[in-house]
Amino acid sequence: MFITTKLWMSHYGDAARRGFQGSLRRLGVDYIDLYLLHWPSPADFAATLTAYRTAEALLSEGLVRAIGVANFEASHLERLLAEAEVMPAVNQIELHPGFTNTALAAVNAAHGVLTQSWSPLGGSVRRSDDQSTDPLASEAIAAIAVAHDRSPGQVILRWQHQKGYCAIPKSVRPSRIAENIQIFDFSLSPEEMARIDALDTGRRGGPDPEWVSMATIPKVIEG
Ligand SMILES: NC(=O)c1ccc[n+]([C@@H]2O[C@H](COP(=O)([O-])OP(=O)(O)OC[C@H]3O[C@@H](n4cnc5c(N)ncnc54)[C@H](OP(=O)(O)O)[C@@H]3O)[C@@H](O)[C@H]2O)c1
Repeated sequence: MFITTKLWMSHYGDAARRGFQGSLRRLGVDYIDLYLLHWPSPADFAATLTAYRTAEALLSEGLVRAIGVANFEASHLERLLAEAEVMPAVNQIELHPGFTNTALAAVNAAHGVLTQSWSPLGGSVRRSDDQSTDPLASEAIAAIAVAHDRSPGQVILRWQHQKGYCAIPKSVRPSRIAENIQIFDFSLSPEEMARIDALDTGRRGGPDPEWVSMATIPKVIEG
């Protein structure tokens, strides 16, 4: 078991430690493996920085094993790194064949920050109004899957792995959870990798991090 959880924006600023304690209580654990800030919230970045300082303190107290961020664009990362004492281990960002987010992944790599792909199978696209870039419905990926006698999901996750990203596919089905980990005994050729790269449309399925704040998503996590 490796437990990751994130701090929501309603607990940014001085409420960060209380938010963290709420996560420990709800999860029934006494430490977290990886603790992330969920959004940069550029509209109130001072509160984001305060929350990150709390995460740094939790790390030094041994209550979390690693800290990082999610949905930070390059500009947010630069602003954070100017103030941070601890480099984020991870930047968890939307990344799948329909939205390859290549430039941001390169910025992460340049800073030694691991790119962790959320919606790695395009879950965000299937939840959106425009499902035309759903990678699980891609003919190109289906053809590569047939060639390797694998599923489209396995091909996408292998592509993520060969890119050097940490993908976090979600499934409620044990058979798919097992399928999604079986990607380490085949490999995609450079030509197959390039065919998947070419599916990028530059269009996200999820929200633009620049837009997200407590004003635009006023969800409050209790506790
Ligand atoms: N940091 C953020 O802001 C953020 C935002 C969104 C998501 N996330 C995280 O990212 C993770 C995954 O993202 P996600 O759930 O949005 O998208 P995803 O993992 O790309 O897709 C999940 C969907 O694909 C299905 N699926 C899983 N494996 C499959 C396979 N091998 N073949 C066909 N379908 C398959 C699942 O259905 P079944 O469950 O029915 O199998 C589920 O509907 C989650 O841990 C989530 O917390 C983070």
